[in-house]
Amino acid sequence: MNDTDIEIENQKQYIEKVKKINKEKNLTYTILTMGCQLNENDSEKISGMIEQMGYTKTNEPKQADLNILNTCCVRENAEERLFGKLGELKNIKEEKGTIIAIGGCMMQEKHITNKIKESYPFVDIIFGTHTLHKLPENLYKAIEQKRKQEDIIDIDGKVYEGLPIKRESNLKASVTIMNGCNNFCSYCIVPYVRGRERSREPRKIIEEVQDLAKKGYKEITLLGQNVNSYLRVEKEKNIKFEEYQGINSFATLLKAINKIEGIERIRFISPHPKDFTDDVIQAICECDKVCKLVHLPLQAGSTKVLKEMNRKYTKEQYLSLVKKMKEKIPNLTLSTDIIVGFPGETEEDFEETLDVVKKVGYEQVYMFIYSRRVGTPGDKMENQIPENIKHQRFERLKQLVENKIYENNQKYIGTTQTILVEGKSKNNDKTLTGRTDSNKVVIFEGNDDLIGKIISLEIVSEHMWYLKGEIKHGRIFTNDAKIS
Ligand code: 5AD
Ligand code: SF4
Repeated sequence: MNDTDIEIENQKQYIEKVKKINKEKNLTYTILTMGCQLNENDSEKISGMIEQMGYTKTNEPKQADLNILNTCCVRENAEERLFGKLGELKNIKEEKGTIIAIGGCMMQEKHITNKIKESYPFVDIIFGTHTLHKLPENLYKAIEQKRKQEDIIDIDGKVYEGLPIKRESNLKASVTIMNGCNNFCSYCIVPYVRGRERSREPRKIIEEVQDLAKKGYKEITLLGQNVNSYLRVEKEKNIKFEEYQGINSFATLLKAINKIEGIERIRFISPHPKDFTDDVIQAICECDKVCKLVHLPLQAGSTKVLKEMNRKYTKEQYLSLVKKMKEKIPNLTLSTDIIVGFPGETEEDFEETLDVVKKVGYEQVYMFIYSRRVGTPGDKMENQIPENIKHQRFERLKQLVENKIYENNQKYIGTTQTILVEGKSKNNDKTLTGRTDSNKVVIFEGNDDLIGKIISLEIVSEHMWYLKGEIKHGRIFTNDAKIS
């Protein structure tokens, strides 16, 4: 056993200890997840550990015995949300004596943990991104010794395998393939709070996906801050890894996962345009299960702003990558992330962003107003953009994006789309909902036994954020490969 395996065994013992203390107490917990899919995946790991320790999930913090917050710090509004939530939890704690645990990215920021200790001293456990696996030990100590636990380390965490996990869906699963980021985009806090890039062993990823396939999962999303540099650091620094099933890069990983029986769809977020090599483009073409929607974060359209952002590509390089991908990948669709109002962004720079949006024709655009993050180079730049200008630009971008999405949606009408049926619609249990390869929501009428199946249907109308479809007879096929 290596160090990390020993540590996990140790934590499993703490799980047993807490379980014993909690026996027959019918305890409940809540978990609030802020931020990205990586955090959601971390929350599934937290829930896995917590449920093994005898807690069941509830949505009502007032009734819970343990309230957990998994924080994000990518943008400022998450901070406001955290402190608002802590105010609410304080009252609940005073009434009920609930345990409060806060984890995630924001806990890696010293000024935040200091503020919590000073102004919110009722918090029981604070844990960071590198100590998530030690939650059983910290919870045990908080209960047994009634001591506050602060467990945050700054060094880059190791990759811990073998923790229990409680997944939100039984159809779609996220699989983290790498942690951390080495890119240091000048606006971004992630490299400081998630540490340096490190990839999971190929064998562990394959085993996890095989296990998910056995359990009936149909769609896998591979997660990482920079997925297409999977195993790059290991190769550059001669860090040993086992080349399992020929996997030594992101492209070979995609090909290996594509072979796993039972899995129908593979998605991945986020790649970095600068690392989008031809072998990855080739793998997307070759692998029938890899969705042809690629999330390709632009961030800004102006080459000058991109340089200031330390993105390492120009507007022209981005556009020529898009052109190459469109030529090579049949049915390619694209989505992106854009930040408006980065320091120094002029009206002309902003128009370059609008220009790229017009030229590329994205399926989906995630838009953000630049938010200063303490400790990043962007925060120290002098030419910050006034709030009102940032907001005006954001609105202009939003208007353009909505027009383009409306335009793009028209192309779907009358086409046949293959969708994975996910379940009943949220607001209408007479209709079902699913997603296209391009991740568009489709609502349609159909029998419940279609849930979990891949079917094809015709798109009859568009409604901005979703499409309506109809099953035309003779066209249903399922992932059991039976054509009706
Ligand atoms: N301000 C605004 N948006 C940001 N993002 C990352 N950092 C910031 C910031 N400081 C956005 C980027 C990234 C997405 C996950 O969040 O667009 O791709
Ligand atoms: Fe942040 Fe850039 Fe790393 Fe993405 S690639 S996590 S934006 S530093």
